[in-house]
Amino acid sequence: MNSKHPIGIFDSGYGGLTVFKSILNLLPQYDYIYLGDNARAPYGNHSYETVYNYTRECVNWFFKMDCPLVILACNTASAKALRTIQQTDLKSFDTSKRVLGVIRPTAEVIGNYTTTKHIGVLGTKGTIISESYIIEIKKFFPDIVVTQLSCPMWVPIIENGEHLSDGADYFVAKYLKEILKNDPQIDTLLLGCTHYPLLIDKIKKYLSSRITLITQGDIVASSLSDYLQRHTEIDKLISKNGTKRFFTTDETIDFDIHGELFFGEKLESERIFL
Ligand code: DGL
Repeated sequence: MNSKHPIGIFDSGYGGLTVFKSILNLLPQYDYIYLGDNARAPYGNHSYETVYNYTRECVNWFFKMDCPLVILACNTASAKALRTIQQTDLKSFDTSKRVLGVIRPTAEVIGNYTTTKHIGVLGTKGTIISESYIIEIKKFFPDIVVTQLSCPMWVPIIENGEHLSDGADYFVAKYLKEILKNDPQIDTLLLGCTHYPLLIDKIKKYLSSRITLITQGDIVASSLSDYLQRHTEIDKLISKNGTKRFFTTDETIDFDIHGELFFGEKLESERIFL
């Protein structure tokens, strides 16, 4: 197949690049395009309607770019927009198109990490208020207790490049202390926001070694690999030249500088106007 039918990877901004990196490591053969809606990020504190409208607009753009499959590599968009897009909007597009999120694949496996059967979930306000993790984890692991907490300061700290600063320590320690106070039996802690892996060194510093810390990149990548093996009808629609392109709705200079921190290597983005 020569013409491009890439997999689309979406986030409100840079966070999805942490997931994209894991996907690329596992599945380098496919073509990919990444879109960060940086002009309207962060999504975390926006209403359901706003996140849904923004996400739907971006998904439409991916379809115009001939993506047969779009991954919402953003917990907030997965929590607030995915279900409506899957159940309502996809019917009005080419019905062969697929949109997947990051919450379900995480919920499917997270119960395998805990022995106390007490899990903590950290995320944006939007993800936590939606209770998507509580609902999805219950489906796969009904006996597990899920305690969640929103960390509204973490994304702004990361977006402003302050995640390695001493100032970040205060808010890292604050939220970790709070969730463990709410449930001291937590032995597995999910970073349920694709931005949070950038704080991982500081999080480890304030977390007891008895607690397993879960990030989503590898989980989502292996779930995608499994999905494409099971859905050969989708797999055959995706072009396989090993290419990747990055798009942003805001300044490319900013995206290239910040994006490198999340992606772990240099990148060059292109600007789009939705
Ligand atoms: N990366 C998004 C997520 O995983 C959060 C960033 C935002 O608030 O826009 O939830």
